[in-house]
Amino acid sequence: MDYQYDTLIYNVRIASMQDNGFPYGELATTAIAIKDGNIAAFISRDASLNDVFEQAHSVIDATTLIPQTEAEPLKLPWLLPGFVDCHTHLVYGGNRAEEFEMRLQGASYVDIAQRGGGIKGTVEKTRRADEHTLLNTAIKRAKRLCEEGVTTIEVKSGYGLDLDTEVRMLRVAKSLEQHLPVSIQTTYLGAHALPNEFNDAPDKYIDFICDEALPHIASLNLADAVDVFCETIGFSTSQIERVFNCAQQYGLPIKAHVEQLSDSKGAVLAAKYGALSVDHIEYLADSDIPLLAQNGTVAVLLPGAFYYLNEVQKPPVDALRAHNVPMAIATDFNPGSSPLASILTAINMGCVLFQLTPEEALRGATAHAASALGLQDRGVIDTGKLADLTLWDIETPAELAYCINGHRPVAVFKEGKHV
Ligand code: NIG
Ligand code: FE
Repeated sequence: MDYQYDTLIYNVRIASMQDNGFPYGELATTAIAIKDGNIAAFISRDASLNDVFEQAHSVIDATTLIPQTEAEPLKLPWLLPGFVDCHTHLVYGGNRAEEFEMRLQGASYVDIAQRGGGIKGTVEKTRRADEHTLLNTAIKRAKRLCEEGVTTIEVKSGYGLDLDTEVRMLRVAKSLEQHLPVSIQTTYLGAHALPNEFNDAPDKYIDFICDEALPHIASLNLADAVDVFCETIGFSTSQIERVFNCAQQYGLPIKAHVEQLSDSKGAVLAAKYGALSVDHIEYLADSDIPLLAQNGTVAVLLPGAFYYLNEVQKPPVDALRAHNVPMAIATDFNPGSSPLASILTAINMGCVLFQLTPEEALRGATAHAASALGLQDRGVIDTGKLADLTLWDIETPAELAYCINGHRPVAVFKEGKHV
């Protein structure tokens, strides 16, 4: 028999994250129908659910998935969009536990980078790692994110810097989709650090990115976007501008690590180039914020790196809010500045460290994170969007932001499939 719907989920409270004027975008309806991996319909309370049951191949009563007491009425679980972790570097070789020890003894992140450790240390280890090893470690890391209801992950290259290793990293990242119920967006981050073979010749390295690496990676279709690290220990605005121009030539959207350690004006340049997002932005000047608003650039806040580096300068959250710049939250999962395998902890940190409201933080890891990747098809629960959904045994969505390591979804749906 041909069914109108593949799956009907009913008895849920829906935190749609739509901008509908209700907290968390809550909807009046308590049932949702899925067809071909997309959200096909909301079933209104007055429609006879029994009629709809017959039109669905499988029917899930969400109240049976959480413990109930004898008391009436039944407790309804909350349905949220799958989380989008829009900024990670989770493919890498080795780890930086030693560097962590050095930092505890007083060395700073910048000191270590200037002594050839930091990103460059991970570059050495990543170049030595074969594809199999990179994949297995990346699966372990991504799995942690998926366990908390992440259904889309952005993964950057940038620990290879040479062509072979960058391509290997991007291929490994993309192949995570074959091992886990997750969509992967890949980002080429060639301008992350200056590799040793270009020591003292950063402009030659930018030539290499623009003339060789980026064209090759674009021809293999291995990157969905291009990212840069604009910083005293990264690249200057004139160098990253060349990378932006080249990305545009290949039709690739741009993102940028900016104003993480100093106000280098990378955000201004990125916004002028129509960047999807500017990320970190602790040192962003209030006066540069209107430009982000004008260009629809998302501000990606990375509280894990702020926490891990013991940073004291906070991103200008009040001013971003005042200018209606969408704020996303991500883990920045990486071996040096944010070894954080938990989107829910990033959400909690966004609240505690940056004073976001739980609603802002949860919108930040769903709707706004999807915008930071230029993805219109997810991040909110609405008809026509992907049925990437998570179901939670909670009384209010704020609980997810409030409790550290207290929650796992009771069910996750990736493109309509219960995984
Ligand atoms: O997002 N800022 C540059 N890149 C990463 C850190 C990478 C590393 O330390 O390995 C970040 O913080
Ligand atoms: Fe990063």
